[in-house]
Amino acid sequence: MNILVLGSGGREHTFAWKISQSPLSKNLYVAPGNSGTAEIATNINIGVTDFEAIKKLVLDKSIDMVVVGPEDPLVKGIHDYFLNDNTLKHVSVIGPQKEAAELEGSKEFAKEFLYRHNIPTAAYESFTKETVEKGYAFLETLNAPYVLKADGLAAGKGVVILNNLDEAKAELKSMLVDAKFGEASTKVVIEEFLDGIELSCFVLTDGKNYKILPTAKDYKRIGEGDTGLNTGGMGAVSPVPFATDEFLNKIEERIVKPTINGFEKDNLPYVGFVFIGLIKVGDDPKVIEYNVRMGDPETEVVLPRLKNDFVEILQAMSNQTLDTINIEIDERAATTIMLVSGGYPETYEKGKEISGIKAIQDSIPFHAGAQIQDGKIITSGGRVMAITSYGDTYQEAIKKSYQNIEKLHFDKMYYRKDIGFDL
Ligand code: AMP
Ligand code: GLY
Repeated sequence: MNILVLGSGGREHTFAWKISQSPLSKNLYVAPGNSGTAEIATNINIGVTDFEAIKKLVLDKSIDMVVVGPEDPLVKGIHDYFLNDNTLKHVSVIGPQKEAAELEGSKEFAKEFLYRHNIPTAAYESFTKETVEKGYAFLETLNAPYVLKADGLAAGKGVVILNNLDEAKAELKSMLVDAKFGEASTKVVIEEFLDGIELSCFVLTDGKNYKILPTAKDYKRIGEGDTGLNTGGMGAVSPVPFATDEFLNKIEERIVKPTINGFEKDNLPYVGFVFIGLIKVGDDPKVIEYNVRMGDPETEVVLPRLKNDFVEILQAMSNQTLDTINIEIDERAATTIMLVSGGYPETYEKGKEISGIKAIQDSIPFHAGAQIQDGKIITSGGRVMAITSYGDTYQEAIKKSYQNIEKLHFDKMYYRKDIGFDL
């Protein structure tokens, strides 16, 4: 079949890498793609939310399946766009429809869903500009730290955690009254602070059946020891060593099952990935957030451990036959280290030549913010490349990635040297 992957990050390079190994994949396109996807697929330079251009491409190239990488097109309703168009409705879209995508698009929608289905999560209340005074009063009833979340999509920046009550009130005002995150902070969710270690759980679903992929842990902060600003993710490890079978069983029974059943009960059709951000509080998992897509860089460690034909799985998701698939997982650990442009996640320079990729042995370089220009591979984003390795232990895998990173270079290249430090 002819497949189109939407997106341009390490996640999408990993999708393309895995899809291209399938005998079921004939012509593979990535829009817009990066230098990594250019090696194994055809890149098409159109944006992920340009639905009209996507439609034209799908019809021109007789594309049978569209795999949506990032959340933006899902929240904007790309799946509904395909279903509502007679010339497109036969095409399989991997990613939920607009209504279910609100699980990521609106924190309040997600909290209401979690409460309705009795899924463990932090207590919360939500506020608007009109109820800001009530928000201050609610903050006064809580203990520090205070967790404030802009309701809508804010490019990963919408969560603010503060230790001081006055600062929390000022932040609430800035979000609601001064529209700090624009439209995204018209509503703000204030949550109970949960103290624990985080991990991510990835679930494939056809809306009725589900399969759980290996767990992963990502490292979100820019600085070693988990310090400094939040990023999209600086590295990841799979499996998560502290996720014992007993703990995984709790995740499945208390969180995954009620989530999938919740889609059915609420009449939310869902074909796609559910990324459940979890926190281990004592011995119990609680949900921090839902995302309606795979994580990045978690995909770069989760998919390499999947032994199945990925296209066969995607087809089963789309045909509602996921129950017939037997998921097979590589026993080895996989880790990835993200190379980023100096200055990221604040301002950074682009256009730096990346050298040494060909010298990499025994690791897989998944390209992210990297493009081909005049035959050279140059940086084009903050997160540039994720270096994934396998190992009998995660320590061994991490060591391999660091050894290979020694061979890579671009001006102002930065990476964390302590991925896995807390495990
Ligand atoms: P989110 O965008 O909802 O994933 O939040 C970003 C990060 O904020 C999470 O990965 C957590 O580290 C932190 N966080 C979010 N909600 C809470 C909470 N209720 N308690 C503690 N930390 C939280
Ligand atoms: N690595 C976190 C995310 O993809 O949102």
